[in-house]
Amino acid sequence: MRLNPAKPFLRYPSPSHPANRTRELASEGHYVFAEPLQVHFNPIMVSLTNKRILLGVTGSIAAYKSAETVRRLREAGAEVRVVMTRAATEFITALTMQAVSGHPVRQHLLDEQAESGMGHIELARWADAVLVAPASANFMAKVAQGRADDLLSTLCLASGAPLAVAPAMNRQMWDNPLTQSNVATLQKNGVRIFGPDSGTQACGETGAGRMIEPNDLVTMTAAMFETGELVGLNVLVTAGPTWEPIDPVRMITNRSSGKMGYAVATAAMEAGARVTLVSGPTALASPERVECIRVTTAREMFDAVQARVATAHVFVGAAAVADYRPAQTAVDKIKKTADTLDLVLIRNPDILASVSAHTPAPFVVGFAAETGDLERNAVAKLRAKRVDLIAANLVGQPGSGFEADDNHLILVDAAGTVELPLLSKAKAARELIHHIAVRYHAKNPAENPRLAHRQ
Ligand code: PMT
Repeated sequence: MRLNPAKPFLRYPSPSHPANRTRELASEGHYVFAEPLQVHFNPIMVSLTNKRILLGVTGSIAAYKSAETVRRLREAGAEVRVVMTRAATEFITALTMQAVSGHPVRQHLLDEQAESGMGHIELARWADAVLVAPASANFMAKVAQGRADDLLSTLCLASGAPLAVAPAMNRQMWDNPLTQSNVATLQKNGVRIFGPDSGTQACGETGAGRMIEPNDLVTMTAAMFETGELVGLNVLVTAGPTWEPIDPVRMITNRSSGKMGYAVATAAMEAGARVTLVSGPTALASPERVECIRVTTAREMFDAVQARVATAHVFVGAAAVADYRPAQTAVDKIKKTADTLDLVLIRNPDILASVSAHTPAPFVVGFAAETGDLERNAVAKLRAKRVDLIAANLVGQPGSGFEADDNHLILVDAAGTVELPLLSKAKAARELIHHIAVRYHAKNPAENPRLAHRQ
């Protein structure tokens, strides 16, 4: 797809900003992006902190830039795993890529030893985004045909993560109608095309086909996470457990680590929202560009939410709020004198129900943590708490729910149930935010400055 020069591009503060360079390329008639930049480039570049990037390296002289790309991605906070094709190893060694990425480099599909560590399907699931840079004409042709005859092409097919390729080839190869037809097929199927750049090539010719520079690749990779779906909205999120003190050293709490709620806050921020996270005690660092209010008890969480609900467009209650607290907190440590100890508990305020009762109420999303009968319990909670959407998860089993890095969510609203696959909490949160954005914009069409958009 050639970008339409008549379409306005966002301007960036500095003329050397990669987006402005990309704009120049577009005006020169080069392919630059699978989609208009207005959607994916946000002036505030989202950090790549904690993003898992699978970098594929294929056979091209531009592979010498791959080590620098890894370094830049890691400097931006991403974790990078590298997969190389056989041809790539003719240009740069796996040892170099291992040294810069800090992880063993995967090269072969049927590698018993490597598969016993992180299998290729696990690796495909691990990635938040797949970037193939440099992408040779041959590799792009393979992906366009849906072939999976080596590890990297298999991962491109097996991963549900967004895929971007940075072409690197001789200008004749790039201009060849067969390559252009492959590019069009890739774009039609949601693959982002980063570049190519134009200029003097390794072969001595001049034209389009040079891989874009590592800094530009990093900027564009970061932009892959920006959906713009919640631009202009205030999102209030609760996360983590609450601590309900029994005495100065003991408390009632639960196993919530805060990972799910923090991931929701991050995903909302990446979707362009102004996010406030009200967090119970966790060991997690506050997400970047999110206002984080730290609280301890359910009542403190209630107060922090009440103080902000009037300005929230969307509320997501991911916290595991203690339903009860001790009626009295002992001033001193309770001594071990009797064989039994009676503890009187009283109800904590229900934060979620109070938000949906607020006038006007934001778009309200509750979580449901259940140990069985997930859908039925979620429907009951949807009705009882009068919320717009419930994200329900099974808890009490390893691999998802409390503390785990992954989660298996079902989303329940008045229209029915959507089941998400088992995903990392970061991916599950991005999916959840997308579903929230679609429903929010459907409910508030007048406020729909930019239609909910995604690949
Ligand atoms: O933090 P992690 O380790 O990543 O684990 C994630 C999680 C399992 C905690 C999360 O995915 C989750 O399920 N959060 C909700 C936990 C919970 O308390 O569920 P519940 O079914 O008891 O409560 C239903 C809803 O009411 C929740 O949105 C909860 O935040 C809210 N609630 C509950 C009680 C209360 N007093 N006030 C509330 O707002």
